Amino acid sequence: MEKIIDESKQGESLVLENKKENTRKLFIESYGCAMNFSDSEIVASILSNEGFNTTNKLEDADLVLVNTCSIRDKAEQTVRKRLEKYNAVKKTNPKMKVGVLGCMAERLKSKFLEEEKIVDLVVGPDAYKDLPNLLAEVEDGRDAINVILSKEETYGDISPVRLNSNGVTAFVSITRGCDNMCTFCVVPFTRGRERSRDPQSILEEVNDLWSKGYKEITLLGQNVDSYLWYGGGLKKDFDKATDMQKATATNFAKLLEMCAEAQPKMRIRFSTSNPQDMTLDVVETMAKYDNICKYIHLPVQSGSDRILKEMNRQHTREEYIELINNIKRILPDCTISQDMITGFPTETEEDHQDTLSLMREVKYAFGYMFAYSERPGTLAERKMEDDVPLEVKKRRLQEVIDLQLEHSYEKTQSFIGKTVEILIEKEARKGDKDWSGRNSQNLLCVFPKEHYKVGDYVNVKITSATKTTLIGEPVGYSENN
Ligand code: SAH
Ligand code: F3S
Repeated sequence: MEKIIDESKQGESLVLENKKENTRKLFIESYGCAMNFSDSEIVASILSNEGFNTTNKLEDADLVLVNTCSIRDKAEQTVRKRLEKYNAVKKTNPKMKVGVLGCMAERLKSKFLEEEKIVDLVVGPDAYKDLPNLLAEVEDGRDAINVILSKEETYGDISPVRLNSNGVTAFVSITRGCDNMCTFCVVPFTRGRERSRDPQSILEEVNDLWSKGYKEITLLGQNVDSYLWYGGGLKKDFDKATDMQKATATNFAKLLEMCAEAQPKMRIRFSTSNPQDMTLDVVETMAKYDNICKYIHLPVQSGSDRILKEMNRQHTREEYIELINNIKRILPDCTISQDMITGFPTETEEDHQDTLSLMREVKYAFGYMFAYSERPGTLAERKMEDDVPLEVKKRRLQEVIDLQLEHSYEKTQSFIGKTVEILIEKEARKGDKDWSGRNSQNLLCVFPKEHYKVGDYVNVKITSATKTTLIGEPVGYSENN
């Protein structure tokens, strides 16, 4: 199951192919969303030109970087704990330098240097190209910081080094930042304004990945449906573009089509969609191309109109249901997943019941569910009181999770007896006799290895299923192979 925040990957240190001439050692660890993991690949690529090879041994590192997440308080606490660990190691290796990257760097800025004495370097998500200069300052014995957010930076010109890759699936970043201003969310403050990457550089990356043996890409952005390229510039300035720019602009549906046609055997996924920005031309494009996976992550956060309004989600429950019904009509096979927040300020039992009833109406295949965590600087923090007691948030969260698990089970059970195409990604568990991969609908599937190998497209007959996993027997290569 593809996770927005993949718990199994949190804190994974990243290692890439080493350059012989490089003598310095970089330990880089990532927390949070897929975008952070993707950014760490960009950072590693920039630093490999500065003489750094990656290591997964913290004790050996000359430079330790942690790419951080601010989405909930818990994410920040996890990073604080890691900094304590680095501090302990630094005592035995005083030359080791420590840098904080990502959303916490952006949110806390120079406070980090004051609060956490061991931190030498603070770099926000749009300033990674400045790393070589910042490192030079650190080497001269000064603390260094760059948290300037950019209106243009997309790192489109940097080819990311694939870290700890399975060689089969990869993320391709297409937009950065978010303009939606959901009142609970810190992302617009930590990642800045929304901007799109040049489609040519995206296509080049997709083609390059195919030539290196990759079989599946996920187009990545905080709000992919909002993708818009008209020669550069912010989405919000599109009105000011010339007629020519407007006529030749590329929107998300067009970008999807370009990727699907460029590599007809490459599976294409995307994440994340936003209900207010997703248009039916995207759904129709998905229907037109077999290689675009039939899966949409469509966070809704709440089933209550009143709460949606307080969250500034810019769509009603009815509009969301209408979109879902259109998806089900155009793509009957498509699975849909959700993000939900329980205990947003002022949420009543009735609002919570609305969330449960929305879930019953949609029947999501799976979801990512969270108790509301107040984030400093957001509109909700400034204007609303965090008034739902923690026990109530947690009890509602449990009810939402329990209902989701029922629906997930119904979904996985519905595949029993069917034959589905799976792209093999890795061993189910290290040293296991089973392969693990996903079907087009993004459901996890395990089956005996037999003679198949990682990267093969295999038809698998599903014989049983748990709440989250399909279990089957391979029946042969699929025609995609
Ligand atoms: N558009 C983004 C959303 C990022 S945040 C994307 O690419 O996925 C991922 C999810 O975290 C949100 O959909 C929301 O459900 C949850 N979240 C965000 N802020 C939160 C908060 N303050 N408290 C609890 N959950 C939150
Ligand atoms: Fe956050 Fe809403 Fe954007 S959840 S990332 S502000 S769409």
